[in-house]
Amino acid sequence: MGAKKDIDWSNLGFDYHVTDKRYVSMYQNGAWDEGKLISDDKIVMSEDAGVLQYSQSVFEGLKAYTTQDGKIVCFRPDLNAERMYDSAQYLEMPPFPKDRFVDAVVETVRANDAWVPPYGTGATLYIRPFMFGYSPVIGVSPAEDYMFRIFVTPVGPYFKGGAKPIVVRVSDYDRAAPRGTGHIKAGLNYAMSLHAIVDAHNKGFSENIYLDPATRTKLEETGGANILLVDADNTLVIPKSTSILPSITRRSLHYVAENYLGMKVVEREVLLSEVMGGEFKECGLCGTAAVISPIGRINDHGKEFTFSNGMEKIGPVMGKLLDTLTGIQMGRIEAPEGWIKVIEE
Ligand code: PLP
Ligand code: COI
Repeated sequence: MGAKKDIDWSNLGFDYHVTDKRYVSMYQNGAWDEGKLISDDKIVMSEDAGVLQYSQSVFEGLKAYTTQDGKIVCFRPDLNAERMYDSAQYLEMPPFPKDRFVDAVVETVRANDAWVPPYGTGATLYIRPFMFGYSPVIGVSPAEDYMFRIFVTPVGPYFKGGAKPIVVRVSDYDRAAPRGTGHIKAGLNYAMSLHAIVDAHNKGFSENIYLDPATRTKLEETGGANILLVDADNTLVIPKSTSILPSITRRSLHYVAENYLGMKVVEREVLLSEVMGGEFKECGLCGTAAVISPIGRINDHGKEFTFSNGMEKIGPVMGKLLDTLTGIQMGRIEAPEGWIKVIEE
């Protein structure tokens, strides 16, 4: 393992830092090349590249952790490989082979091991695989050539204050149409959220909760995370919709709640009226970046609902889920078979 970089790990935000190496593979003449690590963080391409004209891009997000006993690991990269495969196919891109995806993640983290935050600092190494249309297009069509890349950057908490409850608002904007692209991780889903998030931040909210566009009565997700709720019987309730991203964190927490914490878990449609009417004690956002970020209060056009944990601390159930998940990721709690990929011993 290389000597660690001189960084104030405990005070990192969720920001981009240029690290030493990135992985790149090109798809040209109908095939992916063998791929390699490079040092140059800049990309030169045609002004008419598919990504620049018609936003043909998909990406992933996962993290590498230093465990309690000093290993470097990552969490369920096979599921990111699979989701990126699905995302690429949906945008008519040649999918990157899943086994090569996992190998490339390992190779990129190893090459940047000096940037992996030490155990106990609260920071992690965020891994960003992405691919995009590289060759020129002018009529609306998929590109011929593609670039697959992975960079890494050390990060702290996504929301300032870490596990302190946040205030979110119900958005007037829609995120993903019922038969649109909400279920894949395409850059275009985030482009549409930029105006909504800037407006939310300007008004003092940390995130937007999007409703189902067809009826605007049901909870979908936020701009960058799925939603979890806890009802009066301590059941974990997970909003179900075909237009939300199948979060790996959420799928993992479903398993953790049932098998580690003995909780009942229900995936179902959740009405905003149930939430605002006080049917749930706790609420949180979950995702790679968000981990579990508790929601203190929801604002629906001036009408507010505050969850029982209030604005000072995470609620007991979200707290237990957070401790168990991060315990598994950082090697304090035994992981289910196949969840942890060891990168460096
Ligand atoms: N929903 C959206 C819109 C996201 O961008 C993310 C982040 O990846 C998630 C949910 C959480 O997914 P995961 O747990 O796989 O990171
Ligand atoms: C992630 O959690 O990995 C994401 O991609 C969310 C993003 C909004 C930072």
